[in-house]
Amino acid sequence: MAPSLLVLVVSSVWTALSLPLMMLGVAADGEGGGRCPPVLCGNVNISFPFRIVPEQATDTNCGAIGFQVQCSNNTPYLGFYGGDYWFQILNIFYGNGSMLVADIRKLQDFNISDPRGCHAPTSNSTTKLGYPFYNSPANKNLIIYNCTRGPPTAERERLVETVCHSNTFFRVAESFDKSGGYSSYFLAGCDAVFIPVLGGSGKVNASNYKELISDGFLLTWQLPSSPPLPPPTSGKFTPGANKSV
Ligand SMILES: *[C@@H]1O[C@H](CO)[C@@H](O)[C@H](O)[C@H]1NC(C)=O
Ligand SMILES: *[C@@H]1O[C@H](CO)[C@@H](O)[C@H](O)[C@H]1NC(C)=O
Ligand SMILES: *[C@@H]1O[C@H](CO)[C@@H](O)[C@H](O)[C@H]1NC(C)=O
Ligand SMILES: *[C@@H]1O[C@H](CO)[C@@H](O)[C@H](O)[C@H]1NC(C)=O
Ligand SMILES: *[C@@H]1O[C@H](CO)[C@@H](O)[C@H](O)[C@H]1NC(C)=O
Ligand SMILES: *[C@@H]1O[C@H](CO)[C@@H](O)[C@H](O)[C@H]1NC(C)=O
Repeated sequence: MAPSLLVLVVSSVWTALSLPLMMLGVAADGEGGGRCPPVLCGNVNISFPFRIVPEQATDTNCGAIGFQVQCSNNTPYLGFYGGDYWFQILNIFYGNGSMLVADIRKLQDFNISDPRGCHAPTSNSTTKLGYPFYNSPANKNLIIYNCTRGPPTAERERLVETVCHSNTFFRVAESFDKSGGYSSYFLAGCDAVFIPVLGGSGKVNASNYKELISDGFLLTWQLPSSPPLPPPTSGKFTPGANKSV
């Protein structure tokens, strides 16, 4: 290979490699290259691409988009305070891009001393989840049924009644059904809400719902790739100029 060609190849590889890293440095502070220093919150090491954001803040100048962490009473939570999701982070596995989180808000349901009455959760844990986080296929699912009437006897023996009674039940979905979904777990006359759980190997006892929820489930994450580049501009940048056609 001619030396000049080699230089070209090497430099374009370098450009390809460094571009996403530059993009990750959202609003880089100029010297840190966009990486926040590692911080311990409780016993969880919060490092790049994650970053701690102060309460009420909506941005910091390091870390990657979507990887904000709130550290509250030495407990790390994913997302902004009052944001879309509020998962407690139990562990982050930087080596394989995954993390263990618990949907602890769901534990506030099934509270028999709640003045509003004992109630079952009404939304799936993963409802608000989106890029860059994905539910891992390694998780099982704790299903909570809220039925308008008692389920058929044949189903009844697979279900565990919740502390709320009034036709609300737990069941653990060990795996997808043949169609690749959970359709075989839906019961006529019952609403079904799904909470991913790790559950470990073997059969999971749905009676231990508190432990199952607090032991958390696996999320995987994907680092943002370079967003599409804006069209090349010649001359001065005018805000809103590209909106008029
Ligand atoms: C946290 O992780 C970072 C990056 O892996 C490492 O450099 C740092 O020493 C760790 N800090 C602690 C307190 O474990
Ligand atoms: C990543 O590694 C951790 C620690 O070895 C492991 O517990 C976890 O299951 C792995 N995550 C995935 C998605 O395989
Ligand atoms: C249950 O509700 C009572 C009354 O509102 C409250 O004091 C208690 O902290 C709740 N328990 C849980 C685990 O949320
Ligand atoms: C079950 O669903 C009904 C109708 O949505 C609701 O009124 C009731 O509170 C739910 N039961 C529990 C225990 O959450
Ligand atoms: C909850 O999750 C199940 C299984 O993925 C899905 O079939 C169902 O539509 C979801 N329900 C809501 C209200 O999002
Ligand atoms: C499930 O756990 C409950 C309470 O921990 C226990 O009473 C019950 O026998 C267990 N069921 C099975 C099938 O192991």
